[in-house]
Amino acid sequence: MSQLKNDLIIRALKGEPTERTPVWMMRQAGRYLPEYMVLRRKYGFFERCQTPELACEITLQPVDIIGVDAAILFSDILVVPQAMGLEVQLVESVGPILPDPIKNTNDLNRVRVPNVDETLGYVFDAIKLIKQGLNNRVPLIGFAGAPWTLLCYMVQGKGSKTFDAAKIFCYTEPALAHQLLQMITDTTIEYLKAQAKAGADVVQIFDSWGGLLSPKDFEEFSLKYIRQIVAATKDIVPTIVFAKGAWHSLDAMAATGAHGLGIDWCITPKLARQFAGNNVTLQGNFDPAKLLAPIPQIKSEVNEMLTAFGPGRHIANLGHGILPNVPVDHAKAFVDAVKEFRHT
Ligand code: CP3
Repeated sequence: MSQLKNDLIIRALKGEPTERTPVWMMRQAGRYLPEYMVLRRKYGFFERCQTPELACEITLQPVDIIGVDAAILFSDILVVPQAMGLEVQLVESVGPILPDPIKNTNDLNRVRVPNVDETLGYVFDAIKLIKQGLNNRVPLIGFAGAPWTLLCYMVQGKGSKTFDAAKIFCYTEPALAHQLLQMITDTTIEYLKAQAKAGADVVQIFDSWGGLLSPKDFEEFSLKYIRQIVAATKDIVPTIVFAKGAWHSLDAMAATGAHGLGIDWCITPKLARQFAGNNVTLQGNFDPAKLLAPIPQIKSEVNEMLTAFGPGRHIANLGHGILPNVPVDHAKAFVDAVKEFRHT
């Protein structure tokens, strides 16, 4: 039994009634917060991820400053490729760089399914520290990248609008691609289970680039693996799948048994509900750029969004990560607007 003082998100994920709609924001710990920028100037990105005290402090910032209904672990999806043996750098104003990406069988031999306790133990230490710091105020969300999105970076070697090299790898070397996707999947299952064991109350799978694939290729190169992960976690910890842009497969994603499905702002709540059915919680879907609109407009659009989702089985969120140039009072206005709203 949960001793959480605020368990709105857990109840929403289980389809239980809630007094109001819960809210958190993807990438809520980050560059729009001056308190984060102080630590960002002092420590490197992976240093912040790998030092449990720093990861803990950054994770708690939006809980204390913005008042969100959940904390999300400060880390990155790319710590998994690192643990699997690839070098990952985060380059200032460029983004992630993997200097030796996967191109062929030889490269694949450099990749391993690691012991997660040995390679990612710092994450589990951070989770334990965060749980102490939270003192049951709100749940802690753990996370991992979906295998397809991690393959995108592991093959492309950097961020991309199209991830063409990653797609070409999948379409010309499908056997190698499937071998890599399965290795990522096996690692991710152990990683998410260990996060839950360390204290994560919810886990989310981020498939940020799922929307780059056709429905058929999404099934073959992404959902096939997400399905394995959800099957392994859903009876241990409430599980959310966020496959950005892959609205066409909401029915198939709901059939995985995930408790929650994230949606972006390019689909209406009504249509998403039709596709996903009634046995899953929807999470989203405010356009992150709308947080730059005047505060009265944020408030009225939040009310519109919550009305469109209707009562129950909804967690308010953005449709993707918060942008670094969002004023803190705008982020807070979004969260407060959700907290003040009541379905009549
Ligand atoms: O949501 C949270 O607040 C928790 C922390 C979190 C980060 N990355 C911290 C981070 C989470 C959940 C992620 C996930 C992540 N990382 C995704 C999936 C979600 C999404 O946004 O699509 C992806 C694709 C990545 C890979 C990644 N990491 C990129 C492309 C970048 C560079 C672009 C950017 O936003 O700066 C990162 C770096 C990163 N991860 C930062 C943060 C706070 C910025 C680092 C900094 O400059 O301080």
